[in-house]
Amino acid sequence: MSKLYVFNDIHAAQADRVTEDQSEIARILEQKGIGFEQWETDFEVTADSTSDDILQAYSGSIERLQKEGGYETADVINMTPDHPQKNELRNKFLEEHIHTEDEVRFFVKGDGLFYLHLDDGVYAIQCCQNDLIRVPANTRHWFDMGGSPNFTAVRLFTNVDGWVAKFTGEKIANEFPRYEALTK
Ligand SMILES: [Fe+2]
Repeated sequence: MSKLYVFNDIHAAQADRVTEDQSEIARILEQKGIGFEQWETDFEVTADSTSDDILQAYSGSIERLQKEGGYETADVINMTPDHPQKNELRNKFLEEHIHTEDEVRFFVKGDGLFYLHLDDGVYAIQCCQNDLIRVPANTRHWFDMGGSPNFTAVRLFTNVDGWVAKFTGEKIANEFPRYEALTK
């Protein structure tokens, strides 16, 4: 189940607030301009599911979001614990960065941890199956998939070429508990 940690003091080792209440998580994030929804469906992803199967299963929600946010394209990313580049891919987004377009992810299965550096602290949100998160352009954040990544997610893009991480150079991410500590 998804879980939100709010660190108002970014130098504190402990979160000020922790909640697993889905509607509370959505409300807190909404106040901060972060989109968070749950998409329910009967679809069950299997090892045989293709990207097209997944995009088709969620086509209604994907099209709605594309219209709302102007996202031109959608694709599917699949991470498994035996992925040969898992460490490289994990490390790629472990430092604070921004994008010039929204980062939009829908978790078809598995989970991942977003850390959002907002005006009043860091919000760490563990996104799980059926969670949609929309991180607005230019929001400082980082992402941790853990050492044994295991998730399938739909990604929506305004422009795939524009989705490049611009690192802020801040070392803030190192001060926070990583995936293994927050999701155990
Ligand atoms: Fe990112």
